Amino acid sequence: MVRILVLNGPNLNLLGKREPNVYGSMTLEEINLRISKETEALGVELEFFQSNHEGELLDKIHSGMNCFEALVINPGAFTHYSYAIRDAIAGVDLPTVEVHLSNIHTREDFRHRSVIAPVTRGQIVGLGYYGYILAIQALVGLK
Ligand code: DQA
Repeated sequence: MVRILVLNGPNLNLLGKREPNVYGSMTLEEINLRISKETEALGVELEFFQSNHEGELLDKIHSGMNCFEALVINPGAFTHYSYAIRDAIAGVDLPTVEVHLSNIHTREDFRHRSVIAPVTRGQIVGLGYYGYILAIQALVGLK
């Protein structure tokens, strides 16, 4: 059983209501249910966690060191400036995939840069909730 921590950062709790033209109409709960269902056959154990607070995300990443084998993270806007999240991911040394529902490279300039990407195995953008599923498939396959 591969244990994977699936983290979502700020404002992703508003999915379903938040800019549905950009992020779609599914809530985070619906997305998490879909992820669980579609990855069931892989024999993974998933834990989902969302926070609007950088420190809480850092604590969760640190806790991942002993409890999880891999990490999937959509850091929300922290993607673009949180060196603390970047350092936490580098520090715990867990294989990590960064996911974005939207294609950050076709949006505003400030979204084009991820300070997180250099410490990840890869980045998946623009594929909506499928991004999380693809990330989990890849992390299991790469083990
Ligand atoms: C996002 C993209 C970020 O730029 C934005 O701040 C988000 C969501 C995405 O999933 O597309 O909150 O991470």
